[in-house]
Amino acid sequence: MAALTTERLGDAVGAQVLGVDHDRLLDDPELPALIHDALEEHGALVFRGLHLDDTTQVAFSKRLGSVETSPRSDPPEIFRVTLDPAKNPSAAYLRGTFDWHIDGMTDDIPIMATILSAHAVAATGGETEFASSYAAYEDLSDDQKAYCEAQRVVHTFEAAQRLSNDDPTPEELARWRQRPSKEHPLVWHHQSGRKSLVLGATADHVVGFDPDESKALLADLLDRSTAPERIYRHEWAVGDTVIWDNRGVLHRACRYDPTSARDMHRCTLAGDEPVK
Ligand code: OGA
Ligand code: MN
Repeated sequence: MAALTTERLGDAVGAQVLGVDHDRLLDDPELPALIHDALEEHGALVFRGLHLDDTTQVAFSKRLGSVETSPRSDPPEIFRVTLDPAKNPSAAYLRGTFDWHIDGMTDDIPIMATILSAHAVAATGGETEFASSYAAYEDLSDDQKAYCEAQRVVHTFEAAQRLSNDDPTPEELARWRQRPSKEHPLVWHHQSGRKSLVLGATADHVVGFDPDESKALLADLLDRSTAPERIYRHEWAVGDTVIWDNRGVLHRACRYDPTSARDMHRCTLAGDEPVK
């Protein structure tokens, strides 16, 4: 089968994939390896107008890796990213998607990739933005790289939730704190040999820093990593599918009305690389 045809969308992250239909997604024996290579190179891959139904999305996702399941979802491989609690009982937490983050940073092994398909889009807002965390590291000066290499950061679910809910009830706080915190190096040394910065909403503090110094370092690195000229912003149309490599990109949803019908169907590929 043919190689994958891609068109770059952003300078550091994002490419559109052309010439792929449902048959090829499900049957081309070379496609999974081609997609993994393209993900490594571009961080986020856009497939416009695929209109995947859940069954096809799950079958395609299973060709790319191990798909996570949730007993509360139907089918168990599809998690709905929506702010409508009637469609997803965890909708309240999903306001956390409005801040730059890397998924699964409080887990032992962060997820490898996410496959998101638009079933309904917001009237305004609701774009998804991507920034390369590899480029974030590579663009530092040698001194800054060495400085970052020496730091460790504690990631918590609470830090991420506080950004969208700064006055939690005691019950909410107790629920957030049930999730264990996780300490990671600031610089992730990947199996591939590449390095990336581990930043985003879950980053609570830099170990050993006083709170102001810690906040300033994390904010400065995040601002630089996600500067407007470094990101790709995907403007969704119903039927689009986007896959991103969670190991090498930061992402966020642009704000949209909580009563919006926006409904993304998501498959999550389990990770195989601890942050080290
Ligand atoms: C996610 C996420 C962003 C969006 O599914 O992990 O952050 O635009 N989604 O819905
Ligand atoms: Mn996310």
